[in-house]
Amino acid sequence: MRPMRWSTFVTVGAFMLISTIPALAKERAEDNYRTYCVQCHGMQGNGKGINIRDMSVLPRDHTDAKEMSARSDDDIFKVIKEGGVAINKSVLMPAWADVMTDEEIRDLVQHLRKLCKCSYGK
Ligand code: HEC
Repeated sequence: MRPMRWSTFVTVGAFMLISTIPALAKERAEDNYRTYCVQCHGMQGNGKGINIRDMSVLPRDHTDAKEMSARSDDDIFKVIKEGGVAINKSVLMPAWADVMTDEEIRDLVQHLRKLCKCSYGK
C-alpha cells in the first residue's frame, strides 16, 4: 500500500477541527453559564438561583420567551458584557467584560436563545 500523502492528513485534520468548533462553542457556553450565571439565574435558567432570597431586583427568567424575545441579541450581548446598567437595568446584574471574551459572550447569547426557545421578536 502506498503511504498516505501529508496533504491527506492536513485535509482530514482541518475537516475534523472545523466540524467540532460549533460543538465546542456550545459546551463552553453551557460551562460558562453553569459557572457564572446559575447562582442568580438558576440551574435551569428560570431566575431562581440561590442568591435570590436577598436580592431587591430579581434575575431575569431566561426561559421566559415573552421577556427574552423583547430583547435583541445586541442588547443581550451588551447587558452580559457591560452589566445591567448598560441597558438601564439593575446593577445587580454584573458586567462580565473582564471575565469572558466577546466570542464567549456571543456564544452565551446563543445559549440563552436555546433556553427561551425564542429569538428577537418571536
Ligand atoms: C449576582 C447575580 C447575577 C449574576 C451572577 C448574573 N446575573 Fe444576569 N441578571 C441579574 C439581575 C438581578 C437581572 C435583572 C436586572 C433588572 O431586571 O433590572 C439580570 C438580568 C440579566 C439579563 C437581562 C434580561 C432582560 O432582558 O432583562 C441577561 C441577558 C442576563 N442577566 C444574563 C446573565 C448571564 C449570561 C450571566 C452569567 C454570565 C448572568 N446574567 C449572571 C443578576 C445576575
